[in-house]
Amino acid sequence: MSSMLPKVVVTRRLPGISGARLAGKVTVAAPPPDAPMPPEELLRLAPGTSGILCTLADRIDRPLMDAAGPSLKVVSNYAVGVNNVDVAEATRRGIRVCNTPDVLTQATADLGFALMLAAARKFSEAETALRAGEFTGWDPWGFLGVPVYGGTLGIVGLGKIGAAVAVRAKGFGMRILYHNRRPLPADRERILSVEYRGLDELLAESDFVILCVPLTPETRGLIGRERLARMKRTAVLVNIARGEVVDEGALADALAERGIFAAGLDVYEKEPVVHPGLLAAPSAVLLPHVGSATAETRERMGRLAAENLLAVLSGTEPFSPVN
Ligand code: GLV
Ligand code: GLV
Repeated sequence: MSSMLPKVVVTRRLPGISGARLAGKVTVAAPPPDAPMPPEELLRLAPGTSGILCTLADRIDRPLMDAAGPSLKVVSNYAVGVNNVDVAEATRRGIRVCNTPDVLTQATADLGFALMLAAARKFSEAETALRAGEFTGWDPWGFLGVPVYGGTLGIVGLGKIGAAVAVRAKGFGMRILYHNRRPLPADRERILSVEYRGLDELLAESDFVILCVPLTPETRGLIGRERLARMKRTAVLVNIARGEVVDEGALADALAERGIFAAGLDVYEKEPVVHPGLLAAPSAVLLPHVGSATAETRERMGRLAAENLLAVLSGTEPFSPVN
């Protein structure tokens, strides 16, 4: 009877998405692989599929939607960011796109805050030295960082994750600035203890700048050479959004020339490739896109992504639609 069930493609073996969760409701076209699915394989599996459950490493574009044909009803992304999906094209075709917000907010804000602390206090440089056998005793001059407590934090993109970062910053006695396309309502600003700034003002005033914006045509390349030059020489830049929000070459130069103090990065322009200038910068703390990486969060992302997929295929409203 399984041939009567809608066919779906799951592009990778994922926490929270078990065969049992989908069994009896859909047929999975092929066993989800333990590595990113090659685009040719996704194209090959696409014809006649009703749903695609994918990760941020999969490009869900017009050629893929053409290959899937009119049977395709839902693209359920196992991520909050949907820049890997052509949402406008999906909307035009009546394909629902869903993501996994909320469940990863706290884990991602924790990681962003950890990157701030790690970059400010030179964790990577110091630990690298220790592992290389260079810890020869307490050093009054070694690995001098910048203070986090009481500093000024600029949050670029005060959505759910940005707000969760602000809550943490309050506990560190920080003054909190933010930039969005439009200011938040005054009562929301009051609750979060945040002050609106234009982007250039925020960059000039902040000791820490953390990027929490979605990647869109407006935010691509948002932080380039000129904007980096507006930052304080003692400032730290943290990116937990998408690599393409920052011009990596310009950032590598700014770090090499000590135009800013340090950077903490979880995302890169051409993942999994990391710009050689960043790899060579001791003041950069570099993580391999682990913002949502706790077992609990990944399990909840999987459950939500599966529920979104099944909801659309059963004709009900998904829990977290993007379109
Ligand atoms: C991770 O980067 C996500 O968008 O969920
Ligand atoms: C450092 O460990 C100190 O005691 O000053």
